[in-house]
Parts: sequence; structure tokens; C-alpha cells
Amino acid sequence: MLRLVLRAKGLGKVYRTPSGEVTALTGFDHTFEPGCVTAVVGPSGSGKSTLLNLLAGFDTPTSGEVWIGNDAVHALPERERSRLRLRRFGFVFQSFNLVAVLSAEQNVALPMGLAGIPSALRRRRATALLERFGLQHRADHLPHRLSGGERQRVALARALANDPDVVFADEPTGSLDSAAGSKVMDALAAVAAEGRIVVLVTHDPTLAGRAQERLRLHDGRLVEVGAPAVLDTRTSIAPHDVGAA
Ligand SMILES: Nc1ncnc2c1ncn2[C@@H]1O[C@H](COP(=O)(O)OP(=O)(O)OP(=O)(O)O)[C@@H](O)[C@H]1O
Ligand SMILES: [Mg+2]
Repeated sequence: MLRLVLRAKGLGKVYRTPSGEVTALTGFDHTFEPGCVTAVVGPSGSGKSTLLNLLAGFDTPTSGEVWIGNDAVHALPERERSRLRLRRFGFVFQSFNLVAVLSAEQNVALPMGLAGIPSALRRRRATALLERFGLQHRADHLPHRLSGGERQRVALARALANDPDVVFADEPTGSLDSAAGSKVMDALAAVAAEGRIVVLVTHDPTLAGRAQERLRLHDGRLVEVGAPAVLDTRTSIAPHDVGAA
């Protein structure tokens, strides 16, 4: 299947707050390629979540552009942007964001309902997605009866509900132990291998090291683009080194 490219050009965000302006991102240019996990790393406050929110169209940039294929995410009215999000993008957050009163299967089927997919097909697809992540025996469980790793795999299954071109994951393993986190990373890598774009924000050097591409932000600027095979991830994102960039 032909997948779309995600492009950012001169992307910038200035937050206006009562205590003044905060420049969270400046002049960010990058093309995200299908089939690739791109890890976004950088210290707290460097603009990682801001970047994700702009790329995904949750927020509008102060300057610059975001394109998914031929669609200008930054320029669409909110209504159309949310339709585009539903169709093209999937999301995984550190806090899982599952609906507490819905079962695992109902959570996965939820975005399909919003996209107008008939209920029989919703159930079939939700079952297949849960199966893919080894969760078929958890389909009827409410989120509080799942382990953290299981919840995050349900969240990933839900992110794939409408067959997105891009999956955005902001610290998806931040609440997990390393074994569960590694399993979620395996799943993200498999999702990218299908030809999707995965944009992964992480503080974890081991996970960043497993991405095909790594972007490092510092004070809202892109200061390094690297493939982990070329750059030593462990040393180059150590805190003492960040200021030197
Ligand atoms: N809604 C907002 N209003 C004002 N300032 C904001 C807002 N969101 C973020 N900021 C500021 O923008 C800068 C970048 O924040 P951002 O959340 O993107 O960083 P981050 O790299 O995701 O950090 P973390 O690793 O802690 O999640 C910070 O200085 C932050 O305080
Ligand atoms: Mg953040």
C-alpha cells in the first residue's frame, strides 16, 4: 500500500502566557519517511510534545507548515483537521488514555465508530488487532484489569483502528517496566515495518537506539539528526552532553 510522507517546514510555536512569551519550537524542518521509527529525544522542556502536537494538528503553529501527503495540516479548519486525524493518525500516550468504562475491545473499536464503520466490521477488526498484540484473551476486560503493558498494547491497537499513515507515541513506555516497554517497542517497530511512520518521543536511550532515525531537540531547536548506527545513542543523549550541542 502506498503510504504518505509527513513533512514539516520551518515549524515554530510561541506560547503566549500571562507572564510573557515562551518559544517552544523554532524553524523545525524534517521529512518523516514511511517504514521508519523516528525517535525524538531531548531534555525536558526542549519542545518534544509541542512538536508532536503540531505535527498531529492538535495545535496550530505560530509559523511554518505541516503536510501529510498533499494535505496541509496547519491550514485546515479544526473540523477537517479532526477528520484527517481520525483517518490518517493514531496516538499512544504515556498515560494510556483508555476509556475506563469500556472493555479492551470496545476501546479499540471506538475510533472506528467515530469514522462511521459498521458495527460488525468494527468488532471483526478490533478482534484482529487485539489478536495481533497477543490480547485476544483480554478483549472483555476493562482497562483497570489489565497490566500496564497490556493497556499500552490496547492503546496501540486502538491507534491502528482506522489504518493510519502515522502513529504518534509520546513516552509510550514511560509508565512501564523495561520488559513491558521493550514489548511495546517491538510492536511499534512492527507497525513501522508495515510502511507507516512512527514518531516516538522517549527519554529512554535504549528505545531511541532501536529507532531507525533519531532527532534531538534542545531549547526548541533541532540540533542533531542521526541514525543510531552512526551515533552512539547512550553517550550522545546523556545530560552532560546536551548543552554542548
Ligand atoms: N500550553 C503551553 N503554554 C505555555 N507554555 C508551554 C505550553 N506547553 C509547553 N510550554 C512550554 O514550551 C516548552 C516546551 O515544552 P514541551 O512540553 O514541548 O517540552 P517536552 O520536550 O515535551 O518536555 P518533557 O520531556 O518534560 O515532556 C517548555 O518551556 C514548556 O514550559
Ligand atoms: Mg513532553
